[in-house]
Order: sequence, then structure tokens, then C-alpha cells
Amino acid sequence: MAMQNDRRIVNIALIGFMGAGKTSVGRIVADQLHFEHHDTDEIIQARMGRTITEIFSTDGEPAFRKMESELVEELAGRTRIVIATGGGLPANPQNLASLKMHALVVCLWASPEKIWERVKNQTHRPLLHDPDPQKKIRDLLAAREPFYKQADVLLNTELRSVREVAQQVVHQFRLEASGRQ
Ligand code: S3P
Repeated sequence: MAMQNDRRIVNIALIGFMGAGKTSVGRIVADQLHFEHHDTDEIIQARMGRTITEIFSTDGEPAFRKMESELVEELAGRTRIVIATGGGLPANPQNLASLKMHALVVCLWASPEKIWERVKNQTHRPLLHDPDPQKKIRDLLAAREPFYKQADVLLNTELRSVREVAQQVVHQFRLEASGRQ
């Protein structure tokens, strides 16, 4: 069992900005390790029967953030899971602290320019429904950087394929597990 102080690292949490590839990478990692894959946005949408955009417009962002935090607490009791988180989830220090208790926290990183390239043709992210989405990306990323940088592992995704990033995540998790048993 991987231990680090009072941490019991049995899961993997992927954090990082929108468009960093958390969901796609998470699926491959879960597949390779025979872990269950949980995507916080997907779970919230399924439970509410509404899209994130609809939840933001009808219930508001604070209600969405509350659902995220409740889900983080719920997942803390699980083992052998990969959690792909929404981009804003680790900006709540309590969420990040909770994830760190049981998961190796890996941040998938990309520059604002790269993120824009990846998300510009997508419409499902309410925070980017903005007159100047590129500025919004730069501002949000700057505000979140201190949280993302608290990850155990920071992986630049810019020059790697999704599969290569997933491979790195699996590698880091195995290193962690073998180094601390
Ligand atoms: C958000 C990111 C989204 C989703 C919601 C808010 C954010 O998830 O949770 O639109 O605050 O960055 P992805 O990072 O999976 O796009």
C-alpha cells in the first residue's frame, strides 16, 4: 500500500484546465490499471439529468461547485478508481486536500494558447461562453495555477499524445506504489 504521511494513495486524480485531456487520459489509465473511471462532470450531469451548461444557467455556479464538493467527499471512500475532475474543482482547497488523502494527484498542463486551440470549436463549457474567451482562459488559468501546481505530478501535455500522457500517469502511479509499499 502506498503511504505518504497520513495519505493512503490508492487512486489517481487528474486535475487541470478545461481541454487538458483529463477525461480521455483518465479512460486509458483506468483501462490499463483495471481501475474504475469516474468523471465528475459526467456523474453530475447524469445525476441531474441536465448538461453542465443547463446546471450553470438554472442553479448557478455555486450550486454546481457544491455538487462537485459532495462528490469529492463521496469518492474519498473508494479504492482503485481514476477520477477525472472538472477544471475548477481543485480551486477549492478542501477538494484538493480531500483528493490528496487517497489519490496520486496528477495535473495535466497546457498553455493558454494550446487550450484555446483545443476548445475553440466546442460549446459545452459555460465559463467559455464569454465575449473574449481567450482572455477568460488566460485569467482563469492564472488564478488556478497555484492550485494546479500543488499536484504531486505536473505533466505537460503539449508535445505528447493522449496515449503518451496516459502512459506517463500509469508510470508515475506505479513508481509511487512501488516506492512506498
Ligand atoms: C469548469 C470545467 C469543466 C466543467 C465546468 C466548469 C471549470 O470541466 O466542470 O464547465 O471551472 O474550469 P472540464 O475541465 O472537464 O472541461
